Amino acid sequence: MAKATSVLPLGLARVAGHRGAKLRAPENTLAGFHAAKRLGAGWVELDAKLTRDGVPIVIHDQTLERTTDGAGRVESATLAEIGRLDAGKWFSREFAGEKVPTLADALKAIAAEGMGVNVEIKPCPGREHETAEASIAVIREVWPSSLPAPIVSSFRRASLEKAKMVAPELPRGLLIEARETGWRETAEGLGCKAIHPEWSALDTEWVAEIHRSGFACVTWTVNDPQAAKRLLGWGVDCIITDAPDLIVPLVT
Ligand code: G3P
Ligand code: MG
Repeated sequence: MAKATSVLPLGLARVAGHRGAKLRAPENTLAGFHAAKRLGAGWVELDAKLTRDGVPIVIHDQTLERTTDGAGRVESATLAEIGRLDAGKWFSREFAGEKVPTLADALKAIAAEGMGVNVEIKPCPGREHETAEASIAVIREVWPSSLPAPIVSSFRRASLEKAKMVAPELPRGLLIEARETGWRETAEGLGCKAIHPEWSALDTEWVAEIHRSGFACVTWTVNDPQAAKRLLGWGVDCIITDAPDLIVPLVT
């Protein structure tokens, strides 16, 4: 059985809740982050993008339809407009009244729970630099130094480049869908501390190679306990899951 509390790189926990606890509460909401804590996750992952007026908020899709009662593109809506939307009742009546949180409010809630956070910069196309810059400004403003520094991750190299430029001190994670030639050089060039591969792309050799190259290995999105056991056996540092309750028992 993998140890939950062994000393992990970057102050990581073995289990991080994906978008909060996506299978248990509406994703990327404060209720979701509190649920992740209740279900035993030590960290959470969330997605940051910008409103039309440039405020970092926590939402996954480029459009509002799936996770709110609004419509249209996130980048076309102001913070005030998004603030009027319900982001919980699509999931279940119990969560009616949940809002799309600002990144600032999300980070404050997560820090109050004593959890760590992986802020995925998920820019609308063309906003790679400004999304990274504005999200980092929020992290700097609200995140307490008593907790592990947030890992700033992205699929978008331009966002990671900007993050490196404006906040070299914050650990960066390179998100990877499938093993690609040159992953190590890319991550080194971006000054990354962690590689975040999609879990089915991993095998024991790649995990070892990631570690040998000096990176932490954070994988997503693992909801199958059998797969999680295998990944933990290979030495993956952190598993991002929609259902922390299914994975946490494997590491405690
Ligand atoms: O950060 C891991 C994972 O969240 C990346 O994919 O689309 O769920 O944000 P996505
Ligand atoms: Mg994400």
